[in-house]
Amino acid sequence: MENNFPAIYNDCARILVSQQEIAAICDRMAAEITDTYKDSNRRLVMVVILKGSMPFASELMKRLDLPLELEFMKVSSYGSGTTSAGRINIVLDLHRGDLANVDIIVIEDIIDSGRTLSYLVEYLKLGGANSVKTCTMLDKPSRREVEFVPDYVGTVVPNEFVVGFGLDYNEKYRNLPFIGVLARHVYEK
Ligand code: PRP
Repeated sequence: MENNFPAIYNDCARILVSQQEIAAICDRMAAEITDTYKDSNRRLVMVVILKGSMPFASELMKRLDLPLELEFMKVSSYGSGTTSAGRINIVLDLHRGDLANVDIIVIEDIIDSGRTLSYLVEYLKLGGANSVKTCTMLDKPSRREVEFVPDYVGTVVPNEFVVGFGLDYNEKYRNLPFIGVLARHVYEK
């Protein structure tokens, strides 16, 4: 990349989703979500799954023309993600007693195996939520291990190592303003 860009950009081989494309995707998704919930008389709660979804949720929520409430959850997964041993553990949970009157929209940065969201949707439904929909910035269907179809998808990405806009490599690069493919020199050094 050009040397007049921030030095950190050199750790990306190429940009997959630019800042302008992210903005257009958020505009489109926000219009769809607003249209779905605009006539609801229930509480709408956006549940942001930490940490990677934070930048996406931030961009999306300011475009929603809805009286939205905000909550956070954090999960961790144990075991190999490539076998049925992969288990989800809730690290930060919702603490609300009103879920029967709540529509939940879960916000994710990416869906890979599908394990996190399929678990969370069942968990929130069992917890009594009136409805649970899912919204992801990126979808990587080529990595799916359990069947899962999100309600709202920003864009589909190929099976490459993507970072930026919340997505990390060893906890780094979440602050990139675009979504890029991590350069080989970063993980081969
Ligand atoms: C990522 C992503 C999803 C999950 C998707 O989170 O944010 O929560 O993995 O993968 P899956 O479809 O295979 O379950 P990660 O565990 O990397 O945590 P982070 O958001 O804190 O980076």
